Amino acid sequence: MPISEAMQAALNQHIEQEFASAYLYLAMAAHCTSANLPGFAHWLRLQSLEETGHALRLFDLLTDRGGQVRLQPIPAPPATFASPLALMQQALAHEQQVSRLIHDLYAVAAQEKADTSETELQWFLAEQVEEEKTVGEIVGQLELVGRKGRRCSCSTASWPNARRKSRQRQPRPPTETERALVAVPANRGWGSAGMTQTDKVLVVIALVLGLLDVVNVRGPVSKISVAGLAIVLLALVELRRGGVLAF
Ligand SMILES: [Fe+2]
Ligand SMILES: [Fe+2]
Repeated sequence: MPISEAMQAALNQHIEQEFASAYLYLAMAAHCTSANLPGFAHWLRLQSLEETGHALRLFDLLTDRGGQVRLQPIPAPPATFASPLALMQQALAHEQQVSRLIHDLYAVAAQEKADTSETELQWFLAEQVEEEKTVGEIVGQLELVGRKGRRCSCSTASWPNARRKSRQRQPRPPTETERALVAVPANRGWGSAGMTQTDKVLVVIALVLGLLDVVNVRGPVSKISVAGLAIVLLALVELRRGGVLAF
């Protein structure tokens, strides 16, 4: 039995739809490639090939049944997408729309008593269930990342640009521990320029004790306390290096 004109028109219309799906996924793959998301790009490219395969199944159905293929212009898909989530949401909405169209196509096949087309379209109906499930899972995972993961730069409107900027490593702000370590002088030993208040007090005490030892001398110069002088000199040097005295 020759395929009816109505069935031919409906199948031709859906061939265009499957090619439009392939075109959309290919545009998405191109965008993900430029956004440095090769995993997304690879998966989307495979989807594009699958959609082309779907179009060719209907193409073969038409020609095998003696119908005429009339290819239609394919609308240009978007070139950019706001974010991976927005991209996948669009893919899901598209698959849901395709499912509705296949149901309509199946209704036409039933009305036209096109049994062969009905049998073939049952495969398409099952395929749509699988495709909606797969894309829906990806959307769910991306939504989960958005809620529980760290804020993603790819959620901005200029997604690819944001990705490029994120690759230019920005200096990481120091942690609390690092700030504390920097605040502590690397060398707090004798002679450090980073003397704490306690250090200064101790050195001043040493200076005073040394001076007391020196002035307590009762006798010739030869009997001046060498230890006392050493303490005084070292204390003076320390106070100068610590910024307390300038000489
Ligand atoms: Fe498809
Ligand atoms: Fe699909």
